[in-house]
Amino acid sequence: LSPAEERAMAEGVFGALSREASGCTRCPLHAHATQTVFGEGPADARLLILGEQPGDTEDLAGRPFVGPAGKVLDAALEKAGLDRRQAYLTNAVKHFKYEPRGKRRIHQRPNSGEIAHCRWWLEREVEAIRPKVILAMGATAVEALTGRADVFSALKGRQVPLGDEAVLVVTVHPSYLLRLPDPEARAREQAGFEAMVALAGRLS
Ligand code: URA
Repeated sequence: LSPAEERAMAEGVFGALSREASGCTRCPLHAHATQTVFGEGPADARLLILGEQPGDTEDLAGRPFVGPAGKVLDAALEKAGLDRRQAYLTNAVKHFKYEPRGKRRIHQRPNSGEIAHCRWWLEREVEAIRPKVILAMGATAVEALTGRADVFSALKGRQVPLGDEAVLVVTVHPSYLLRLPDPEARAREQAGFEAMVALAGRLS
């Protein structure tokens, strides 16, 4: 084996994959982001949790779900008695897409082209982990997994088979909960989110 192959074997598939992803220039988003934010978690995780893209905090930290949306997710996992470290957490798009506004960087949703480009990495992750359950949070995650931009509303709050091996559990994105101004709507959506996180845990 060459030294590079030896290193790849020692690191396992994720070391090699995430190192490769760190230099990704498949789409223009890499140019303005601080770094690639690859997935993290055990290679034999039964549950894969999929978000949209890293936010401002994640872009700086280089880790998924460590900002405000991550706190909402962590709370729901804890409430369901699930250990975050046993799940594999990743995003449909691995670079932060934003618009600079003064000193702030305002999140922008990835478009279908960016989602399709980045699907290359997501497919490698799913292939390597072979999760039993994928918890898809939000429309971007669903589009990345199904290739359809128009099915999120119909699938929200449901579980559907994904291929022969995995179950897809669909819920809202935690950032959506943080943005909902109406307390009643927020409580309702929050309860739905928590129920789907718990269901994903039970099925995995
Ligand atoms: N939102 C996401 O979808 N993913 C993250 O990692 C952080 C916020």
